[in-house]
Amino acid sequence: MFNLAALSTLALGYTSVVNAQASSVAQLVGSLRQAPTVVDRLNLLQDSDLLFNFLEPPSGVTTGSGGHTVAATSGNFPGVVGNGVSMTIGFLGPCGMNTPHTHPRATEINFSLNTTLRGGVLVENGARFIDVEIAPGSATVFPQGAIHFEMNPSCEPAMFVAGFNNEDPGVQQVGQRYFGLPPDIVGAALGGLGVTEIQGLESKIPDNVAYGVDECLQRCGITRGNQPTAQLQPVDAGNSPSGISAAPASATAAGPSAAKPTSSNQPASSSARPAPSSSARASKPAVSQRPIGAPAVSDSPPYGARALETSSPAPEVTSFRRRA
Ligand SMILES: *[C@@H]1O[C@H](CO)[C@@H](O)[C@H](O)[C@H]1NC(C)=O
Ligand SMILES: *[C@@H]1O[C@H](CO)[C@@H](O)[C@H](O)[C@H]1NC(C)=O
Repeated sequence: MFNLAALSTLALGYTSVVNAQASSVAQLVGSLRQAPTVVDRLNLLQDSDLLFNFLEPPSGVTTGSGGHTVAATSGNFPGVVGNGVSMTIGFLGPCGMNTPHTHPRATEINFSLNTTLRGGVLVENGARFIDVEIAPGSATVFPQGAIHFEMNPSCEPAMFVAGFNNEDPGVQQVGQRYFGLPPDIVGAALGGLGVTEIQGLESKIPDNVAYGVDECLQRCGITRGNQPTAQLQPVDAGNSPSGISAAPASATAAGPSAAKPTSSNQPASSSARPAPSSSARASKPAVSQRPIGAPAVSDSPPYGARALETSSPAPEVTSFRRRA
């Protein structure tokens, strides 16, 4: 019943492609999901598949000016498959803010390691706003689907640990996605703002993790500067209809093919978006796709004083650097 030969072929196959494309992860995850029993599933995994190194992650990194997060999900950590859990570790620089977002498939418990973090939650229409200060050593809960944000209001780097009750929690950044709806719809929903105005606003939406509020930046001597904007919703025929002509000429040029998804839990990159600084951006995904098992960037200091991924579309990594 249990086909050892097939299994060892599979296992060998997996071993030999550790440096290959992320598709090998997809194949393994597919096999794991089809395994008839937990025992069969474990036999598809090597012991090392049950470890995820957040300091040298194979993928799952989201980086902005204010820090970075590392997500371990079924997209890059086959060991979680069938267990219904996943985890994100956040490395927030001084004043770093995880911009408002939701997790469509998971409730999150979020533990602050060493700084009092400022968080806020909107669960649904009619629900009151919840304002939380997550002191070091405490945790809060963000219900599935709730809009929430978190900011490090201190001038020191901070670290959080977020556990999810789904192996593929998903994440949806509110600003980046809302402004990726058709601009005339967004304008109308905001009471009649013009398309040009909407696109002007949209082009400023910074990548997550972004810099937080002015008060913090001033207190910590940080200049906001131009933050990278590679996580905006890609433009396609649907959300940039030809009838809307106010977009800069480059806006519609790239079309849907530019809408390459990045890793499963990341916002898509958007080289297609009109943005003042977009010419500097390559059409690479916002998060590099280093295959699982491939050597990680080795010069990263522990806890990442800089982005762990060097192939992100090269915003100057200003995370964690205090500017005089
Ligand atoms: C956990 O909370 C911190 C601080 O409130 C926040 O910065 C972080 O984004 C949260 N984690 C996730 C995955 O939402
Ligand atoms: C919190 O922990 C991280 C990881 O060890 C470290 O980089 C950071 O400096 C710490 N922050 C504070 C305020 O202790």
